[in-house]
Amino acid sequence: MLKAEIISRICEAVRKRMFIFLAGFVFALLCFIALNAAMVPVSKSEYCGSKCHEMNTAYLTWELSPHGTNSKGIRVECIDCHLPAKEKYFVHITAKAYEGAKDMYKHYFGDEYDTEKIRQKVLDHISNKRCLHCHDNLLARPGSSAARIAHTAALSKPDAEENRCIQCHENVGHQRQNKLFSP
Ligand code: HEC
Ligand code: HEC
Ligand code: HEC
Repeated sequence: MLKAEIISRICEAVRKRMFIFLAGFVFALLCFIALNAAMVPVSKSEYCGSKCHEMNTAYLTWELSPHGTNSKGIRVECIDCHLPAKEKYFVHITAKAYEGAKDMYKHYFGDEYDTEKIRQKVLDHISNKRCLHCHDNLLARPGSSAARIAHTAALSKPDAEENRCIQCHENVGHQRQNKLFSP
């Protein structure tokens, strides 16, 4: 077969399928936009807090915590601590879909919700990365020397158990006890 003929055949094939290709592309784009739009309401803390009774305590204690209410008027949403960073779009959205489906399943088919058990589970797993995403200038602010020593250690060895932010700042996401040791 002549070279020119091969090329012309390929061109013809592409032209024939161009419409399908374009339609597919537009469809994918529309799905992407719709998915993002659908994610907006379910990303709000009000949504997380109001959809099922299991989340009531979490929502109320969050409102009382320094991340729900603070003098700067910045609200740190549930997903900021409980999901991977939004900047990592696909990791974030996959985790959200998975966690959402799991919560839904447990709501309908799971055992009675055990706040203490889940609380412990979150405490054991929440990583310093979540916190450092926002608190990235820990040593820049003037603070007590105890805080400085603790934070220097936490920054140099973030994976060590004793350096996990949450070991010392257990109540930052949810104000569960009176303010004995918080932050
Ligand atoms: C600053 C980070 C942070 C934010 C913001 C945050 N959480 Fe948490 N969450 C934690 C940590 C840490 C724990 C484990 C310690 C604890 O429960 O006090 C936890 C525990 C939980 C638990 C398990 C215990 C329980 O009460 O059932 C749920 C559910 C929960 N969070 C949901 C939420 C919801 C819903 C929001 C938003 C309304 C939210 N969290 C906001 C950090 C956070
Ligand atoms: C989305 C950003 C964001 C994330 C994620 C986040 N924080 Fe914060 N944090 C804030 C803001 C905003 C404030 C309140 C303003 C301030 O005090 O600077 C705050 C306040 C605090 C305070 C001071 C509390 C007080 O009583 O004044 C501590 C301690 C703290 N965060 C620790 C943590 C820990 C530990 C985590 C991880 C579990 C975390 N934060 C996750 C943004 C964040
Ligand atoms: C060994 C204990 C310990 C660890 C681990 C620890 N902190 Fe702290 N943190 C403190 C102490 C103590 C203070 C000062 C509290 C005070 O002065 O009231 C403090 C204060 C803070 C504050 C408020 C003051 C400021 O500098 O803005 C933030 C925010 C904070 N820590 C975030 C974190 C984050 C994020 C991590 C994890 C990377 C972390 N801490 C790990 C003990 C700790």
